[in-house]
Amino acid sequence: MTATEERAPVAEGFPAGFVWGAATSAYQIEGAVDADGRGPSIWDAFCRVPGATAAGESGDPACDHYRRWPEDVELLAGLGVGAYRLSVAWPRILPEGGGRPERRGLDFYRRLVDALRERGITPFVTLYHWDLPQALEERGGWRVRDTAERFADYAAVVHEALEGVPYWTTLNEPYCSAVTGYAEGRHAPGAREGHGALAAAHHLLVGHGLAVARLRERARPGERIGVTLNMSPAVPASPSAEDAAAARRMDLMVNRQFTEPLLGGAYPGDMAEVYGEISDFSFRRDGDLAVISEPLDFLGVNYYYPIHAAAAPYAQPDPALRSAFDIGVRTVAPDGPPVTGLGWRIEPDGLRDTLTGLAARFPRLPPVFVTENGYGDDGDLDDTGRVAYLAAHLAATRAALDDGVDVRGYFCWSLLDNFEWARGYAARFGLVHVDYATQVRTPKASYRWYRDVIAGRV
Ligand code: FCB
Repeated sequence: MTATEERAPVAEGFPAGFVWGAATSAYQIEGAVDADGRGPSIWDAFCRVPGATAAGESGDPACDHYRRWPEDVELLAGLGVGAYRLSVAWPRILPEGGGRPERRGLDFYRRLVDALRERGITPFVTLYHWDLPQALEERGGWRVRDTAERFADYAAVVHEALEGVPYWTTLNEPYCSAVTGYAEGRHAPGAREGHGALAAAHHLLVGHGLAVARLRERARPGERIGVTLNMSPAVPASPSAEDAAAARRMDLMVNRQFTEPLLGGAYPGDMAEVYGEISDFSFRRDGDLAVISEPLDFLGVNYYYPIHAAAAPYAQPDPALRSAFDIGVRTVAPDGPPVTGLGWRIEPDGLRDTLTGLAARFPRLPPVFVTENGYGDDGDLDDTGRVAYLAAHLAATRAALDDGVDVRGYFCWSLLDNFEWARGYAARFGLVHVDYATQVRTPKASYRWYRDVIAGRV
């Protein structure tokens, strides 16, 4: 026997019933942006702004999944996954953000959910993966409370229409919606605001809580409701006190401003100090934290890399004038660990630390699913880098289980190469290669490897 043959299968040691899955999101794969009454989303508008996305690309046509979904369901079946994480496009259901639901949009997801269930694949449905109806952005977007209320209404419409979905996720990565979208301007709607971004973060959380309550009122037996956060441990770049403080500020911005209200029922105590001048929290109302901290049935964690943080001069030295997430931190790239094809740091221990850290910090932590984890490159079919990345992160997930964290499943990002937001189509995360000119799908080496992991063969 060779050393390779002696190695235990990757899936060994994961509990019976552990969910193996793959993930996508609506705007990144569906295309068909004008089909069946779909309204414009903030991403359709953002992609038209010169320079907003690489090569001016947009989610049209992406993988044309709206028309080719039966083939994609077959790819999932061939992979042998027990679950598929998809998102519903709000602008397909309520093209203006509210009002009368568009039946054709709902029918699309009904057919998809039925086809998945026929193949024994459990749908995990995310209600909001960044594609806000443009009509709502024009009325203030996530800066205003009304959007949170509209979101709860939309959640109730989708929930009522889609039967056979045991796992409902309200939001994907509210950090990216709020900070990347409203403070940094790198994502839709492309705003660069301080106060607006803080308000967006809060209203996203309120929208989440209102949606949880609405779904729970109507939940069918066995349905579970959760939220997905992107988490990156913030590691001080050096042992200095300054870098430790910088890492703590970064941890607040990326992780704690979401985990603490959701799981602990309170905003972090250092929020006003870190955000300085923009800390006018007048958008908060009494009772909001109770809404936001409605108990969850599960938490989704998206993990890609940790952040190494060093203290840096504030862009605006006068705290009274300081704005928009100017938190005196610079991210650094220490020597050592390798990087992905996109230059993202490969540090699987960050996933273990994230999971064990959550369990240590929050006594009320519900069961956790790793709802995204994956490797980006330029699309090599013999993607040994992706296989190594996934193997290492599965080992980290397994280590967290051994540490006692209740991890129930793992979803690879992504089933298909797709529209990688501002990076456009050049950044590819798929287990399956997509030729965008012909829409031909070709499974990569990682697809066969993950299939064999799930089957217990490697
Ligand atoms: C996450 C997003 C997902 C995808 C991956 C690479 O932040 O949720 O849509 O773009 O990154």
